[in-house]
Amino acid sequence: NIHPVLLCGGSGTRLWPRSRPAAPKPFLPLLGETSLFQQALARFGEPPFAPAIVVTGAEHQALAKAQSATANVAEFIIEPEPKQTAAAIAFAAGRLPPDAIMLVCPSDHYIGDTAAFLRTAEQACAVAADGWLVCLGIEPTAPETRFGYIQRGDPLDDRDGAFKVARFEEKPAQVEAVRYVESGNFVWNGGIFAFRAADFLDELRRYRPELAECAARAVADGVAAANEFRPAAAATAEIAAESVDYAVMENSDRVAMVMARMDWSDIGDWNALHAARPNDAAGNSVRGPADLVDCRGVLVDSDGPRVRAIGLDNIVVVIDGDDVLVASAAAAGNPAKPGQ
Ligand code: GDD
Ligand code: MG
Repeated sequence: NIHPVLLCGGSGTRLWPRSRPAAPKPFLPLLGETSLFQQALARFGEPPFAPAIVVTGAEHQALAKAQSATANVAEFIIEPEPKQTAAAIAFAAGRLPPDAIMLVCPSDHYIGDTAAFLRTAEQACAVAADGWLVCLGIEPTAPETRFGYIQRGDPLDDRDGAFKVARFEEKPAQVEAVRYVESGNFVWNGGIFAFRAADFLDELRRYRPELAECAARAVADGVAAANEFRPAAAATAEIAAESVDYAVMENSDRVAMVMARMDWSDIGDWNALHAARPNDAAGNSVRGPADLVDCRGVLVDSDGPRVRAIGLDNIVVVIDGDDVLVASAAAAGNPAKPGQ
């Protein structure tokens, strides 16, 4: 059995005004009728997937539960406070049997082709069953600095599309990212991981012994009830917040990579959402009532007021209640936080 582990944290401030602290990005129906979180859960409806583990913060547990009513969730792990992905994964690993294969997924990605994703995920899990910590590689399209980069190593024997990882570099500087993409040897880390619970915890102990120890204590002293588990607050408070990428993937020499050939996007900002939504021939994408006249590359997303846009190029317009965002597409990729 493969155990899907859905990570559901973060605030997604780049998608203001739609994304808010009380209802962040994963819980919004940004693409289609259901939320990104619901879409992530729905990918695992059938065997070989066991019911999922959902790891989320205390402030979002109600939303997470409300949005999973019909889905197959084994356990909600409710974090007393957010401590980043290394801890969130350690909690889930601590709740599973040592030889359970975990498929760790963000809950805020767009994946266009579920069948292709599931094929890749199963392949990654087969490699994980041999003791590797496996990440999914995505062919890069630009020198993005908000992704991790994976340098492909030797192919893994008899495994088509699976490689050792020569080097894992989380969020390089721009110059490095340009070099990586030009070299042709690097791919993006898709942020989706497969490993056995015990292998992950071994590597976490090896490279971040204190983090591993605090997380283990938080699980040992945690409280289980019905289908939820609450790691102990005192031990959680001592955990150093660090991402799995920095804490484990950059350091481990048991990291492998499986190429994911699927439509994939980290819906990191309005431009990414624009690209993932249907576009007309002029590259405009409209949700809600709007008339676009002589516009190109315009995204409109209005929850009520009618928008009339005339003669605009590469502009983002988002209306949420009383809040309006108007931005150039260039700035929408790197916005100041609201209020700044
Ligand atoms: N439960 C929980 N608790 N979830 C968390 C926490 C936490 O404290 N922190 C982050 N998450 C969730 C986020 O909601 C998201 O679904 C996932 O974990 C990844 O965290 P991000 O903060 O979105 O990571 P990132 O996008 O900066 O970088 C990661 O993903 C990239 C691809 O999208 C890295 O793995 C990169 O290497 C990768 O390229
Ligand atoms: Mg992300």
